[in-house]
Amino acid sequence: MCGIVGFVQQKNVADNFPLEVCLHGLKRLEYRGYDSAGVALAGSAGFATDAQLENTIAIPGFKTQVRKKAGRLDNLEEEIRQHPTLPASVAIAHTRWATHGKPNDINAHPHVSNDNRIALIHNGIIENANSLRDELESEGINFSSSTDTEVAAHLLRRELGRIEAESAAEAKYTCDLTEAMRRIAVLFSGTFTLLAIDALNPEVVVGARHDSPLVVGVGDGMNFLGSDVAAFIEYTNQAIALGQDQIVTITPESIDIIDFDGVPQIGEKFEVNWDAALASKGGYRTFMEKEIREEPRAIADTLLGRIDPSTKRLKLDEMNVDEETFAQNMRKIDKIIIVACGTASYAGFVTKYAIEHWCRIPVEVELAHEFRYRDPIVNAKSLVISISQSGETMDTIMAVRHAKEQGAQTISICNSQGAALPRESDATLYTHAGPEVAVASTKAFVAQITASYIIGLYLASIRGNMYNDEVQNVLDELDEIPEKVQMLVDQFDSITRLADYYSDVESVLFLGRHVGYPVALEGALKLKELAYIHAEGFAAGELKHGPIALIQEDLPVFVILPPLDRPELHSKVISNIQEVKARGARVFAIAEEGDTTAIEHADIVFKRPKCPSLLAPLLDVVPLQIFAYALATAKGLDVDQPRNLAKSVTVE
Ligand code: M6R
Repeated sequence: MCGIVGFVQQKNVADNFPLEVCLHGLKRLEYRGYDSAGVALAGSAGFATDAQLENTIAIPGFKTQVRKKAGRLDNLEEEIRQHPTLPASVAIAHTRWATHGKPNDINAHPHVSNDNRIALIHNGIIENANSLRDELESEGINFSSSTDTEVAAHLLRRELGRIEAESAAEAKYTCDLTEAMRRIAVLFSGTFTLLAIDALNPEVVVGARHDSPLVVGVGDGMNFLGSDVAAFIEYTNQAIALGQDQIVTITPESIDIIDFDGVPQIGEKFEVNWDAALASKGGYRTFMEKEIREEPRAIADTLLGRIDPSTKRLKLDEMNVDEETFAQNMRKIDKIIIVACGTASYAGFVTKYAIEHWCRIPVEVELAHEFRYRDPIVNAKSLVISISQSGETMDTIMAVRHAKEQGAQTISICNSQGAALPRESDATLYTHAGPEVAVASTKAFVAQITASYIIGLYLASIRGNMYNDEVQNVLDELDEIPEKVQMLVDQFDSITRLADYYSDVESVLFLGRHVGYPVALEGALKLKELAYIHAEGFAAGELKHGPIALIQEDLPVFVILPPLDRPELHSKVISNIQEVKARGARVFAIAEEGDTTAIEHADIVFKRPKCPSLLAPLLDVVPLQIFAYALATAKGLDVDQPRNLAKSVTVE
């Protein structure tokens, strides 16, 4: 949930570059949490000479410089303006989504050892922090915050002291932050990414990760660490993904990785396929507006290059198992379970209809956090498809692990390179939506549906449920979707004007049937998280079983109408419109061009270009996203960083 940055460069006493890297990195990671922000620097004034290092175990006066502040990054920047930092060679920085302890200045990261020599930041939850805290307090360590993280800072300092004492006894100086980190990492239960610097050794940043994200950025005479590649994308596109339970030590010239047993490891190198411009607002008022406007491209890029021109076979991206074996296993599966959370789960819900239709396999959609704990029936004939924009949602990762333990085949759909989920899955299909920075998911949703459809078509073709030309027909229809989405995106300003008019509403309902049902759920979620108003999505057929009691004069009700080529569904939803209209609701319909019945019955109609019903969600969601965005904007709310939320939910 928190955002983490680490940086090291060659000694350059007159340089504020480490601070700049940290602040830029935090800006890009702020979507991960924005309860507080902080930075710790060391070097320059804190440099110890080689002679000093040889002769001493602790030098008074060599301290990390820490600046931290509750609230948004602006507050930290103001704090630094008032209390400037000295030039440095190493730095760590943190943006917080509070778990343990209130979001105030004291609980903000970094946390320091009592002598200020060690500074440390953390993402995750240290579950055994209380007992470790008792132990440290009994040894005379003073705590200043109520976080679980501070325990790690003091433990690291204690361990460093022990290592130095051991080596002093052998009459040689050692300053082994890496070994100290390794020794403390094995003490913790819970989840963590930890980064630390030592004021006496300002040429090293050490990180540790257990069930929490951390990626290395490879520079020239400098190296980076980040919760994700956005942390350093301005400076390098060369990255290394770390494995589970690993410690990484970066210096200006080296990157060394070991596991928690101290055994050297090799990280997986990759090149980031987007640049800093893509992760900036690009002239738009907000990231969310930009990301909605990028939806046509997100779909087109996710479709691009998926068919092998020679074999006409659909291509998956990353295969962690032999491709032919994997394909054989796919022919044997008798059940599919889609696991995901939030918006990604609604993308999965949409997909269920298509995959069952194309592949004739039962598909269950399960919230990842519910899946693992209900002892699901999963075995070697099950395929578990996980969907996650970040690839770091802890519940989704845990669901995949559980499925693998039961022998299931696993495919992940993910948007973020270097994330954990692809590494834990047998195969991955990346959504090429580009970086999604706004906390509320928009372009990732349509890209996830697109990618799920590619997997559905892959399964249908290798299992012989569809002939090649049938698959090709669907792909041709998908190819036309970006242009149709663009037509809806072009209505941005008119939908905005409409939303302005409704900025005082207290409640909004969403109704849909068939694939329109998960779209209704997504429309409601967008409105809740952005505009903080009561919003609920219902299956339209469920209306008379209770929700109709909520209908009252002027209540806005969004209704997603099926295409006209599904008359059996369409007529029923028209009846639902009449039922809510009769009770005074104001109906906003999303309906196909030429749907005159919709125009006759609804108050306002958003026109959707013609498309097959299974593909309609890719279009229908767009006006709902824009409406939620515009309503929140009209209320003066921060649409990119809604209250209480974080984009990546990396704790359970
Ligand atoms: O990164 P993920 O796709 O795994 O995230 C899952 C949900 O947390 C996410 O979709 C969330 O519901 C969105 N912020 C909603 O807009």
